[in-house]
Amino acid sequence: MTREKLKIGLFGYGCVGQGLHDVLNSSKGFKADIVKICVKDRTKKRRIPMTNFTFDKNDILNDPSINLVVELIDDADEAFSIVCTAMKSGKNVVTANKLMVATHFKALVEMQAKYKVSLLYEASAGASIPIIRNLEEYYDNELLYSLRGILNGTTNYILTKMHNEALPYSQALSQAQEKGFAESNPSLDVEGLDAKYKLCIITGHAYGLFLEPGEVFHYGIKTISKFDIQYAKEKGLKIKLVPYVGKTNENTITSFVLPRFISSDKYLYNVDNEYNGVITEAAFADKQFFCGKGAGGHATGSAVLSDISANSYGYKYEYKKYLQGTVSNYTRNFRLEVYLRYKDEKEKELFGFEEVSEYFSSRLYKYVIGIINLERLYALREQLTNMDVFIVNTGRRDLN
Ligand code: HSE
Repeated sequence: MTREKLKIGLFGYGCVGQGLHDVLNSSKGFKADIVKICVKDRTKKRRIPMTNFTFDKNDILNDPSINLVVELIDDADEAFSIVCTAMKSGKNVVTANKLMVATHFKALVEMQAKYKVSLLYEASAGASIPIIRNLEEYYDNELLYSLRGILNGTTNYILTKMHNEALPYSQALSQAQEKGFAESNPSLDVEGLDAKYKLCIITGHAYGLFLEPGEVFHYGIKTISKFDIQYAKEKGLKIKLVPYVGKTNENTITSFVLPRFISSDKYLYNVDNEYNGVITEAAFADKQFFCGKGAGGHATGSAVLSDISANSYGYKYEYKKYLQGTVSNYTRNFRLEVYLRYKDEKEKELFGFEEVSEYFSSRLYKYVIGIINLERLYALREQLTNMDVFIVNTGRRDLN
Protein backbone atom coordinates (compact mmCIF):
# COMPACT_ATOMS: atom_id res chain seq x y z
CA MET A 1 0.00 0.00 0.00
CA THR A 2 1.35 3.44 -0.84
CA ARG A 3 1.84 5.84 1.92
CA GLU A 4 0.68 9.37 1.44
CA LYS A 5 3.11 12.11 2.44
CA LEU A 6 1.49 13.82 5.38
CA LYS A 7 1.36 17.56 5.82
CA ILE A 8 -0.25 18.18 9.17
CA GLY A 9 -2.07 21.22 10.51
CA LEU A 10 -2.25 20.83 14.29
CA PHE A 11 -4.87 22.54 16.46
CA GLY A 12 -3.90 22.81 20.13
CA TYR A 13 -0.59 22.56 21.91
CA GLY A 14 -1.62 21.56 25.41
CA CYS A 15 -0.88 18.34 27.22
CA VAL A 16 -1.84 16.07 24.30
CA GLY A 17 -0.49 18.34 21.56
CA GLN A 18 2.92 18.46 23.22
CA GLY A 19 2.74 14.73 23.91
CA LEU A 20 2.11 14.10 20.23
CA HIS A 21 5.02 16.37 19.30
CA ASP A 22 7.36 14.32 21.53
CA VAL A 23 6.01 11.04 20.19
CA LEU A 24 6.39 12.20 16.57
CA ASN A 25 9.94 13.42 17.19
CA SER A 26 10.89 10.04 18.65
CA SER A 27 9.33 8.00 15.83
CA LYS A 28 12.33 7.93 13.53
CA GLY A 29 10.83 5.80 10.78
CA PHE A 30 7.73 7.92 10.40
CA LYS A 31 7.86 11.07 8.35
CA ALA A 32 5.14 13.66 8.78
CA ASP A 33 5.59 17.39 8.73
CA ILE A 34 3.69 19.60 11.12
CA VAL A 35 3.24 22.61 8.86
CA LYS A 36 1.55 24.86 11.42
CA ILE A 37 0.17 24.71 14.94
CA CYS A 38 -2.87 26.83 15.69
CA VAL A 39 -3.24 27.96 19.32
CA LYS A 40 -5.53 30.41 21.13
CA ASP A 41 -3.40 31.94 23.86
CA ARG A 42 -1.03 34.58 22.50
CA THR A 43 0.72 35.18 25.82
CA LYS A 44 1.62 31.61 26.83
CA LYS A 45 5.31 30.73 26.72
CA ARG A 46 5.90 27.89 24.25
CA ARG A 47 8.73 25.37 24.32
CA ILE A 48 9.36 25.60 20.56
CA PRO A 49 9.94 28.74 18.42
CA MET A 50 6.92 30.95 17.78
CA THR A 51 7.41 30.59 14.01
CA ASN A 52 5.71 27.18 14.35
CA PHE A 53 2.48 28.77 15.55
CA THR A 54 -0.44 30.71 14.19
CA PHE A 55 -3.46 32.22 15.93
CA ASP A 56 -5.61 32.15 12.82
CA LYS A 57 -7.36 28.84 12.10
CA ASN A 58 -7.68 29.75 8.41
CA ASP A 59 -3.90 29.55 8.05
CA ILE A 60 -4.44 25.80 8.36
CA LEU A 61 -7.96 25.33 7.01
CA ASN A 62 -7.29 27.35 3.82
CA ASP A 63 -3.83 25.90 3.16
CA PRO A 64 -4.21 23.44 0.27
CA SER A 65 -0.83 21.83 1.02
CA ILE A 66 -2.16 20.54 4.38
CA ASN A 67 -3.86 17.19 3.88
CA LEU A 68 -4.41 16.17 7.51
CA VAL A 69 -5.88 18.19 10.36
CA VAL A 70 -5.09 16.97 13.86
CA GLU A 71 -7.53 18.52 16.32
CA LEU A 72 -6.46 18.50 19.98
CA ILE A 73 -8.16 21.52 21.52
CA ASP A 74 -10.28 21.72 24.64
CA ASP A 75 -13.33 23.58 23.38
CA ALA A 76 -15.72 21.01 21.86
CA ASP A 77 -17.86 23.55 19.95
CA GLU A 78 -14.87 25.18 18.35
CA ALA A 79 -13.43 21.71 17.65
CA PHE A 80 -16.65 20.71 15.85
CA SER A 81 -16.55 23.83 13.71
CA ILE A 82 -12.89 23.19 12.79
CA VAL A 83 -13.48 19.52 12.04
CA CYS A 84 -16.54 20.26 9.85
CA THR A 85 -14.71 22.93 7.85
CA ALA A 86 -11.70 20.65 7.39
CA MET A 87 -13.82 17.72 6.21
CA LYS A 88 -15.87 19.89 3.85
CA SER A 89 -12.66 21.05 2.21
CA GLY A 90 -11.55 17.45 1.67
CA LYS A 91 -9.04 17.18 4.51
CA ASN A 92 -8.81 14.06 6.64
CA VAL A 93 -9.01 14.61 10.38
CA VAL A 94 -7.64 12.97 13.52
CA THR A 95 -9.12 14.06 16.84
CA ALA A 96 -8.99 13.09 20.52
CA ASN A 97 -12.10 15.08 21.45
CA LYS A 98 -14.54 12.62 23.02
CA LEU A 99 -17.16 15.23 23.93
CA MET A 100 -17.22 16.46 20.33
CA VAL A 101 -17.36 12.98 18.78
CA ALA A 102 -19.98 11.67 21.21
CA THR A 103 -22.30 14.67 20.84
CA HIS A 104 -22.11 14.87 17.03
CA PHE A 105 -21.49 11.20 16.30
CA LYS A 106 -24.12 10.58 13.62
CA ALA A 107 -23.41 13.87 11.80
CA LEU A 108 -19.69 13.14 11.79
CA VAL A 109 -20.25 9.66 10.36
CA GLU A 110 -22.49 11.08 7.62
CA MET A 111 -20.02 13.83 6.74
CA GLN A 112 -17.22 11.33 6.24
CA ALA A 113 -19.32 9.56 3.61
CA LYS A 114 -20.56 12.77 2.02
CA TYR A 115 -17.16 14.42 1.63
CA LYS A 116 -15.22 11.17 1.13
CA VAL A 117 -12.81 11.91 3.98
CA SER A 118 -11.66 10.01 7.02
CA LEU A 119 -12.12 10.98 10.65
CA LEU A 120 -10.14 8.89 13.15
CA TYR A 121 -10.43 9.20 16.93
CA GLU A 122 -8.76 6.24 18.63
CA ALA A 123 -7.33 8.54 21.32
CA SER A 124 -10.82 9.65 22.35
CA ALA A 125 -11.63 6.42 24.22
CA GLY A 126 -9.18 4.68 26.52
CA ALA A 127 -6.25 6.79 25.21
CA SER A 128 -3.44 4.32 24.47
CA ILE A 129 -5.72 1.24 24.32
CA PRO A 130 -6.56 0.48 20.67
CA ILE A 131 -10.15 -0.43 21.41
CA ILE A 132 -11.96 1.31 18.56
CA ARG A 133 -9.88 -0.24 15.80
CA ASN A 134 -10.18 -3.63 17.51
CA LEU A 135 -13.95 -3.34 17.57
CA GLU A 136 -13.97 -2.29 13.92
CA GLU A 137 -11.56 -4.90 12.61
CA TYR A 138 -11.43 -7.84 15.00
CA TYR A 139 -15.01 -7.82 16.26
CA ASP A 140 -16.57 -6.85 12.93
CA ASN A 141 -18.53 -10.11 12.76
CA GLU A 142 -18.39 -11.20 16.37
CA LEU A 143 -21.45 -11.56 18.49
CA LEU A 144 -20.46 -9.20 21.26
CA TYR A 145 -22.37 -9.80 24.49
CA SER A 146 -20.94 -6.93 26.48
CA LEU A 147 -18.11 -4.49 27.01
CA ARG A 148 -17.18 -2.92 30.32
CA GLY A 149 -14.13 -1.39 31.87
CA ILE A 150 -12.38 1.61 33.25
CA LEU A 151 -12.37 4.49 30.79
CA ASN A 152 -11.43 7.46 32.93
CA GLY A 153 -7.89 7.87 34.21
CA THR A 154 -8.63 10.69 36.63
CA THR A 155 -11.29 8.89 38.64
CA ASN A 156 -9.25 5.71 38.64
CA TYR A 157 -6.28 7.67 39.96
CA ILE A 158 -8.43 9.23 42.70
CA LEU A 159 -9.98 5.90 43.70
CA THR A 160 -6.57 4.22 43.75
CA LYS A 161 -5.06 6.91 45.98
CA MET A 162 -8.05 6.84 48.34
CA HIS A 163 -7.97 3.06 48.57
CA ASN A 164 -4.22 2.39 48.72
CA GLU A 165 -2.94 5.47 50.52
CA ALA A 166 -6.04 6.79 52.30
CA LEU A 167 -5.50 10.11 50.52
CA PRO A 168 -8.44 12.53 50.84
CA TYR A 169 -10.53 12.89 47.68
CA SER A 170 -9.63 16.55 47.04
CA GLN A 171 -5.90 15.90 47.37
CA ALA A 172 -6.07 12.95 44.98
CA LEU A 173 -8.01 15.06 42.48
CA SER A 174 -5.40 17.85 42.71
CA GLN A 175 -2.66 15.33 41.96
CA ALA A 176 -4.57 14.02 38.94
CA GLN A 177 -4.88 17.61 37.73
CA GLU A 178 -1.18 18.32 38.26
CA LYS A 179 -0.26 15.20 36.30
CA GLY A 180 -2.36 16.34 33.35
CA PHE A 181 -4.92 13.52 33.57
CA ALA A 182 -7.99 15.59 34.43
CA GLU A 183 -10.13 17.61 32.05
CA SER A 184 -9.81 21.39 32.40
CA ASN A 185 -13.27 21.13 33.97
CA PRO A 186 -12.72 18.10 36.25
CA SER A 187 -16.48 17.78 36.90
CA LEU A 188 -16.57 15.98 33.56
CA ASP A 189 -14.28 13.32 35.05
CA VAL A 190 -15.67 12.95 38.56
CA GLU A 191 -19.34 13.07 37.52
CA GLY A 192 -18.85 10.21 35.07
CA LEU A 193 -19.54 12.28 31.94
CA ASP A 194 -16.14 11.75 30.36
CA ALA A 195 -16.51 7.99 30.80
CA LYS A 196 -19.99 8.22 29.29
CA TYR A 197 -18.80 10.05 26.16
CA LYS A 198 -16.19 7.33 25.67
CA LEU A 199 -18.80 4.63 26.23
CA CYS A 200 -21.06 6.21 23.59
CA ILE A 201 -18.21 6.25 21.07
CA ILE A 202 -17.38 2.63 21.82
CA THR A 203 -21.07 1.70 21.51
CA GLY A 204 -21.12 3.12 17.98
CA HIS A 205 -18.38 0.71 16.95
CA ALA A 206 -19.37 -2.24 19.12
CA TYR A 207 -23.08 -2.25 18.26
CA GLY A 208 -23.64 0.35 15.53
CA LEU A 209 -25.92 2.58 17.62
CA PHE A 210 -25.06 6.27 17.85
CA LEU A 211 -26.62 7.09 21.20
CA GLU A 212 -27.34 10.60 22.40
CA PRO A 213 -25.20 10.90 25.56
CA GLY A 214 -28.24 12.33 27.36
CA GLU A 215 -30.02 8.99 26.92
CA VAL A 216 -27.37 7.13 28.90
CA PHE A 217 -27.39 7.09 32.71
CA HIS A 218 -24.13 8.21 34.31
CA TYR A 219 -23.08 8.47 37.93
CA GLY A 220 -19.60 9.37 39.11
CA ILE A 221 -17.54 9.36 42.29
CA LYS A 222 -18.13 12.90 43.56
CA THR A 223 -20.01 11.79 46.67
CA ILE A 224 -17.79 8.86 47.66
CA SER A 225 -16.90 8.88 51.37
CA LYS A 226 -14.43 7.11 53.62
CA PHE A 227 -17.28 4.82 54.70
CA ASP A 228 -17.61 3.47 51.17
CA ILE A 229 -13.87 2.86 50.90
CA GLN A 230 -13.93 1.23 54.34
CA TYR A 231 -16.85 -1.02 53.35
CA ALA A 232 -15.03 -2.11 50.18
CA LYS A 233 -11.77 -2.76 52.02
CA GLU A 234 -13.46 -4.86 54.71
CA LYS A 235 -14.92 -7.08 51.99
CA GLY A 236 -11.65 -7.32 50.01
CA LEU A 237 -13.10 -5.21 47.18
CA LYS A 238 -12.06 -2.09 45.31
CA ILE A 239 -14.38 0.55 43.90
CA LYS A 240 -13.82 1.45 40.24
CA LEU A 241 -15.87 3.63 37.92
CA VAL A 242 -17.12 1.14 35.32
CA PRO A 243 -19.05 2.02 32.16
CA TYR A 244 -21.02 -0.91 30.76
CA VAL A 245 -22.72 -1.66 27.46
CA GLY A 246 -24.31 -5.01 26.69
CA LYS A 247 -27.05 -6.89 24.95
CA THR A 248 -30.35 -7.55 26.68
CA ASN A 249 -31.64 -9.55 23.73
CA GLU A 250 -30.76 -10.13 20.09
CA ASN A 251 -31.43 -6.61 18.85
CA THR A 252 -31.39 -4.54 22.05
CA ILE A 253 -28.65 -3.09 24.22
CA THR A 254 -28.45 -1.21 27.48
CA SER A 255 -25.64 0.94 28.85
CA PHE A 256 -24.73 3.00 31.90
CA VAL A 257 -21.81 4.40 33.90
CA LEU A 258 -21.70 3.48 37.59
CA PRO A 259 -19.08 2.81 40.25
CA ARG A 260 -18.68 -0.94 40.70
CA PHE A 261 -17.22 -3.24 43.34
CA ILE A 262 -14.35 -5.31 41.97
CA SER A 263 -13.07 -8.40 43.75
CA SER A 264 -9.42 -9.40 43.68
CA ASP A 265 -9.99 -12.26 41.21
CA LYS A 266 -11.20 -9.83 38.51
CA TYR A 267 -9.12 -8.30 35.72
CA LEU A 268 -9.98 -4.73 36.69
CA TYR A 269 -8.83 -5.13 40.30
CA ASN A 270 -5.21 -4.35 39.49
CA VAL A 271 -5.93 -1.66 36.93
CA ASP A 272 -4.81 1.24 39.09
CA ASN A 273 -3.83 4.91 38.84
CA GLU A 274 -4.37 6.43 35.39
CA TYR A 275 -4.54 3.04 33.69
CA ASN A 276 -7.71 2.03 31.85
CA GLY A 277 -8.93 -1.49 31.18
CA VAL A 278 -11.57 -2.87 28.85
CA ILE A 279 -13.18 -6.31 29.02
CA THR A 280 -15.09 -7.68 26.07
CA GLU A 281 -17.28 -10.76 26.23
CA ALA A 282 -18.16 -12.33 22.92
CA ALA A 283 -19.64 -15.56 21.61
CA PHE A 284 -16.52 -16.92 19.92
CA ALA A 285 -13.55 -14.94 21.21
CA ASP A 286 -15.00 -15.31 24.73
CA LYS A 287 -13.49 -12.96 27.29
CA GLN A 288 -10.70 -10.52 26.36
CA PHE A 289 -8.99 -7.92 28.46
CA PHE A 290 -7.23 -4.80 27.14
CA CYS A 291 -5.20 -2.64 29.47
CA GLY A 292 -3.09 0.50 29.07
CA LYS A 293 -2.59 4.08 30.11
CA GLY A 294 -5.87 5.94 29.77
CA ALA A 295 -4.73 9.53 30.25
CA GLY A 296 -1.67 11.74 29.96
CA GLY A 297 0.09 13.49 27.08
CA HIS A 298 2.33 10.70 25.85
CA ALA A 299 -0.20 7.88 26.19
CA THR A 300 -2.84 9.89 24.33
CA GLY A 301 -0.22 11.16 21.87
CA SER A 302 0.68 7.55 21.02
CA ALA A 303 -2.93 6.84 19.96
CA VAL A 304 -3.01 10.05 17.92
CA LEU A 305 0.23 9.00 16.21
CA SER A 306 -1.27 5.61 15.44
CA ASP A 307 -4.26 7.33 13.79
CA ILE A 308 -1.95 9.64 11.83
CA SER A 309 -0.04 6.61 10.63
CA ALA A 310 -3.25 4.70 9.76
CA ASN A 311 -4.36 7.76 7.86
CA SER A 312 -1.21 7.72 5.75
CA TYR A 313 -2.28 4.24 4.56
CA GLY A 314 -5.76 5.48 3.69
CA TYR A 315 -7.49 3.84 6.68
CA LYS A 316 -11.12 4.76 7.34
CA TYR A 317 -13.63 3.44 9.85
CA GLU A 318 -16.26 1.48 8.00
CA TYR A 319 -18.85 1.41 10.81
CA LYS A 320 -19.47 -2.23 10.04
CA LYS A 321 -21.86 -2.88 12.92
CA TYR A 322 -23.92 0.15 11.91
CA LEU A 323 -24.15 -1.13 8.34
CA GLN A 324 -25.10 -4.62 9.55
CA GLY A 325 -27.86 -3.01 11.62
CA THR A 326 -28.46 -6.01 13.87
CA VAL A 327 -28.90 -3.92 17.01
CA SER A 328 -31.73 -1.44 16.65
CA ASN A 329 -33.12 -0.88 20.16
CA TYR A 330 -31.92 0.68 23.35
CA THR A 331 -33.47 -0.04 26.73
CA ARG A 332 -33.05 1.13 30.29
CA ASN A 333 -35.30 -1.61 31.60
CA PHE A 334 -32.45 -3.43 33.29
CA ARG A 335 -32.18 -4.78 36.82
CA LEU A 336 -29.05 -4.19 38.86
CA GLU A 337 -27.93 -5.09 42.34
CA VAL A 338 -26.54 -1.97 44.02
CA TYR A 339 -25.09 -0.78 47.30
CA LEU A 340 -26.65 2.51 48.37
CA ARG A 341 -25.04 4.49 51.18
CA TYR A 342 -27.50 7.08 52.42
CA LYS A 343 -28.70 9.18 55.36
CA ASP A 344 -32.36 9.88 54.79
CA GLU A 345 -34.91 7.03 54.71
CA LYS A 346 -37.20 9.09 52.47
CA GLU A 347 -34.43 9.38 49.89
CA LYS A 348 -33.82 5.65 50.02
CA GLU A 349 -37.51 5.03 49.25
CA LEU A 350 -37.10 6.88 45.94
CA PHE A 351 -34.92 4.07 44.61
CA GLY A 352 -37.68 1.46 44.80
CA PHE A 353 -35.55 -1.44 46.03
CA GLU A 354 -37.09 -4.76 45.04
CA GLU A 355 -35.15 -7.28 47.10
CA VAL A 356 -32.90 -6.25 49.96
CA SER A 357 -30.13 -8.66 50.89
CA GLU A 358 -28.14 -6.48 53.30
CA TYR A 359 -28.97 -3.54 55.50
CA PHE A 360 -26.83 -1.58 57.94
CA SER A 361 -27.59 1.42 60.08
CA SER A 362 -25.38 3.38 62.46
CA ARG A 363 -25.27 6.92 63.76
CA LEU A 364 -22.76 7.87 61.06
CA TYR A 365 -24.13 6.18 57.98
CA LYS A 366 -26.50 3.58 56.59
CA TYR A 367 -26.39 1.35 53.61
CA VAL A 368 -28.62 -1.07 51.85
CA ILE A 369 -27.90 -3.66 49.16
CA GLY A 370 -30.71 -4.69 46.89
CA ILE A 371 -32.10 -4.72 43.39
CA ILE A 372 -33.22 -1.66 41.51
CA ASN A 373 -34.14 -0.87 37.93
CA LEU A 374 -31.93 1.32 35.76
CA GLU A 375 -35.08 3.11 34.58
CA ARG A 376 -35.68 4.31 38.13
CA LEU A 377 -32.08 5.54 38.45
CA TYR A 378 -32.39 7.41 35.17
CA ALA A 379 -35.62 9.07 36.32
CA LEU A 380 -33.82 10.20 39.49
CA ARG A 381 -30.75 11.53 37.67
CA GLU A 382 -31.34 15.21 38.42
CA GLN A 383 -32.28 14.69 42.06
CA LEU A 384 -29.25 12.48 42.56
CA THR A 385 -26.89 15.42 42.15
CA ASN A 386 -28.21 16.90 45.41
CA MET A 387 -28.56 13.74 47.46
CA ASP A 388 -26.16 12.69 50.18
CA VAL A 389 -25.84 9.16 48.82
CA PHE A 390 -23.33 6.99 47.01
CA ILE A 391 -24.30 4.20 44.63
CA VAL A 392 -22.15 1.22 43.65
CA ASN A 393 -23.10 -1.59 41.29
CA THR A 394 -22.24 -4.79 43.16
CA GLY A 395 -21.86 -6.61 39.83
CA ARG A 396 -22.58 -9.79 41.78
CA ARG A 397 -25.62 -11.15 40.05
CA ASP A 398 -26.76 -11.55 36.51
CA LEU A 399 -30.39 -10.58 36.88
CA ASN A 400 -31.58 -10.07 33.35
N1 HSE B 1 -9.63 13.30 31.65
C1 HSE B 1 -9.48 12.11 30.88
C2 HSE B 1 -9.25 10.95 31.84
C3 HSE B 1 -8.35 12.26 29.92
O1 HSE B 1 -8.93 11.21 33.00
O2 HSE B 1 -9.38 9.81 31.44
C4 HSE B 1 -8.23 11.15 28.92
O3 HSE B 1 -9.34 11.05 28.10
